[in-house]
Amino acid sequence: MNLARFSRRRYTPYKTPIEFMVNLTKKLGGPNVFIKRDDLLGLAAGGNKTRKLEFLMADALEKGADTIITCGAVQSNHCRLTLAASVKEGLKCQLILEERVAGSYHPDANGNNYLFRLLGVESIKVVPGGSNMLEELDKLAKELEQQGRKPYIIPGGGSNEIGALGYVACAEELIEQAFESGTNFDYIVTPSGSAGTHAGLITGLVGNNTNIPLIGISVSRKKEPQIEVVSNLTLKLCNKLGMSHPVSKKEIIVYDDYVGAGYSLPTDGMVEAVQMLARTEAILMDPVYTGKAMAGLIDLIRKGHFNKNDNVLFIHTGGSPALYAYMDIILESQNSQG
Ligand SMILES: Cc1ncc(COP(=O)(O)O)c(C=O)c1O
Repeated sequence: MNLARFSRRRYTPYKTPIEFMVNLTKKLGGPNVFIKRDDLLGLAAGGNKTRKLEFLMADALEKGADTIITCGAVQSNHCRLTLAASVKEGLKCQLILEERVAGSYHPDANGNNYLFRLLGVESIKVVPGGSNMLEELDKLAKELEQQGRKPYIIPGGGSNEIGALGYVACAEELIEQAFESGTNFDYIVTPSGSAGTHAGLITGLVGNNTNIPLIGISVSRKKEPQIEVVSNLTLKLCNKLGMSHPVSKKEIIVYDDYVGAGYSLPTDGMVEAVQMLARTEAILMDPVYTGKAMAGLIDLIRKGHFNKNDNVLFIHTGGSPALYAYMDIILESQNSQG
């Protein structure tokens, strides 16, 4: 795949490492569990949005933008990283936050909210859960245009066919790393939310004929609507890339058993996974995405989904700053265990 034809900024001057998690593998009794450390990507505190922003910010700069606007949940990693990329590029950044859980926005909250302020966000508007975020973004863009500014809208999660190119690039990077280290991955597991990560990875894996199944663990939607979201974005992406054999819907795998009561709401499995990764590998997961996706991987291992000798790669998509906004939940459970 010739990704070089798309404009790109670079925010990570290295490949993120793939580590064999020997202690976790022992604890779970196999398969061999590896982790791709996209939590170590560039920009403030890393995470998957950095890869998407390399392509999105290049597009914004080409279009002469002076202000980036985007949206997300109240503890959005995407908003933090979009703001960080804007700072790097010398652009202003305005955020619209959706209060998906009523009463969950606290202007003085820790975690990503604290970082919005530290990184110098120009403005934050909070809207109720269920608001039409695209309309909100359009409205804000029009207001800025009336002031003579040049806004550029990045959709929630950076998940359009431009942002998802970042995860096509990630698929190519990990295929190269697998070859270099002589590791044949039997499965790859990723969190699946606004779907840019899932769509980019499956497009890169299928486009390179790897035949490695990609398991997406949903963090919010039920299986069918999530497959629909991933599939729609994947089609747009395959078109953008001019792929002669686009990814088929059958290749999109989603498990929805680990969402719990809803997006961002804690589950016992998430708390167990966050603690287990901290205490076996000293790796910080996050409570909203990777904690739930890792809970899914642990459960699938316990249910015998994999062979003991399989090599399974988990994509660590970042998000650890949100841990600091969930301290009570993670530590309460620790106290009750101890
Ligand atoms: C840490 C983290 N992991 C995973 C995801 C989900 O990625 P995507 O929205 O591309 O599905 C997000 C999205 O915000 C995230 O912040």
